[in-house]
Amino acid sequence: MPYSRVIGTGAYLPEEIRTNEQISQTVDTSDAWIYERTGIKSRRIAGADESAASMAEVAARQAIAAANIKPEAIDLIIVATGTPDRVYPSTGCLLQQRLGIKNSVAFDVQAACSGSIFAMSIADQYIKSGAAKTVLIVGTEICSRIVDWTDRGTCILFGDGAGAILLAASDSAGIMSTHIYSDGEYEDMLYCPNPQVATGDNKDEPGYISMRGNEVFKIAVNTLGRIVDETLAANNMDQSDIDWLVPHQANIRIIAATAKKLKMSMDQVVVTLENQGNTSSASVLIAFNEAVRDGRIQRGQVVLLEAFGAGFTWGSALIKY
Ligand code: UT7
Repeated sequence: MPYSRVIGTGAYLPEEIRTNEQISQTVDTSDAWIYERTGIKSRRIAGADESAASMAEVAARQAIAAANIKPEAIDLIIVATGTPDRVYPSTGCLLQQRLGIKNSVAFDVQAACSGSIFAMSIADQYIKSGAAKTVLIVGTEICSRIVDWTDRGTCILFGDGAGAILLAASDSAGIMSTHIYSDGEYEDMLYCPNPQVATGDNKDEPGYISMRGNEVFKIAVNTLGRIVDETLAANNMDQSDIDWLVPHQANIRIIAATAKKLKMSMDQVVVTLENQGNTSSASVLIAFNEAVRDGRIQRGQVVLLEAFGAGFTWGSALIKY
């Protein structure tokens, strides 16, 4: 059975930087509070002419160039996003069109901040079964447009961006295992209504992120601790076998708790949130790309990716890069 090997990565961050100081001019907060409680100093904000699909295209083209393949080689495109340009067609189809790719299938995955891990899990099944040979995965989000900029509990956290990864069938190791879960029992703890179609409790709510932050925080820490244990056990591995942790970038304190659980020094953890905030489904792929491109993640090393998000959804991917 073939492995899904990483053959290219890419990312895109919009130009505009919004600092904690700027946010503290419009809501009751401060740079010191945000930095201490989250590890975030600034985030990127997409321009008026940018969209999930336009950002996805830049990240995807970078990954394609890094892999040195022709776009036509891609036979499956999976886009993870909670902020699609349109309800339909999927952002996957919009990206397929932008890349000029024919003879492939494209679709979106909606698993909030865990979306890219879910997409990697799906891609791995396609590749292992022989149903696809080359898969493009992109996580792309314009969180700034679904954030209530008067809510200090959420507007300090999120940012915009896109990350991409290309996987190809290979005899040598790539993805070693993926583990994905969801539990809809927690649907009210973190959600974003869709005002045009909402009914019941969400009927008159605007389309902004709503989160019970502190409760989400505690569940995220516990859940990520469990998934990390499960991933190691499934691969008969020990904490010391992991070279790099590439976590979802929600809060530095959540990331530090997972690193501690793995007995990893923060030097082995890829952290991007200080200048990017939480880019939801894009965050893990943006961080992975950064550490590949700056040479931290080397071929042959073992990398653990993990994420947690609305649903709740959560998951991990263990990769031999
Ligand atoms: O990516 C998807 C998953 N999402 C997450 O994992 C997010 C998880 N949650 C978090 O990152 C944190 O819970 C937050 C950063 C959102 C909040 O930090 P916290 O340490 O959990 O604070 P808290 O909600 O318990 O609030 C503590 C205090 C409260 O004041 P009182 O009641 O103690 O007087 C809040 O009203 O901090 C207050 N507060 C703020 N103060 C200044 C909440 N937000 C702010 C703020 N600036 N932005």
